[in-house]
Amino acid sequence: MKNIAVFASGNGSNFQAIVDVFRKNTLKANIKLLVCDNPNAFVLERARRAKIKTLLLKSKDYADKKSSEEEIVRNLEAEKIDLVILAGFMRMLSGHIISRYQGKILNIHPALLPAFKGASAIKDAFDYGVKMTGVTVHFVDEKMDNGPIILQEAVKIKESDTLKKLEERIHKVEHKIYPQAIQLFISGNLRIRGRKVEVRKPR
Ligand code: GRF
Repeated sequence: MKNIAVFASGNGSNFQAIVDVFRKNTLKANIKLLVCDNPNAFVLERARRAKIKTLLLKSKDYADKKSSEEEIVRNLEAEKIDLVILAGFMRMLSGHIISRYQGKILNIHPALLPAFKGASAIKDAFDYGVKMTGVTVHFVDEKMDNGPIILQEAVKIKESDTLKKLEERIHKVEHKIYPQAIQLFISGNLRIRGRKVEVRKPR
């Protein structure tokens, strides 16, 4: 059994998708902790309903980023966390956490990386006029939306699309492929080779 921490700052629909898959027991993992940096985030309510422990970071409680990250690491160690899942966590992690959990932090991005990095990827792709966008799950390194790619799935943009419709289709794909990527990680089927990730078929 692997122990998972999810980091999120907002609505938490990906958090919910992961919790739901886990509850159906298709993921051999314990979701032990939610780390959240936004006291108004709906994900806090989702964690409360799912009875998952929460670490709420309030920046005024910490002298600087380093001390807030030391607090995060203390909590991750106390819960014996094996895997960190970023799901709409709106701040960059520094080397302090990334080096401690090297190769054990995943992120989901709502575009086909390396296109449309950053916080407004769905809108950026829509406004740019690309015909195809999608979803990427990748390992996290110290650069934003940059680490080795685990899974990607394309989503077509139709002429009749509105931003809202596109967002809904992207989120649907996210809720499908993030649990898949987590499953691949916890069953030991991912190997990082430089920029590439070898994905073995689960036995
Ligand atoms: C998702 O679109 C994810 O790809 C991005 O942030 C969004 C989080 O959405 N990193 P939610 O909070 O999981 O609903």
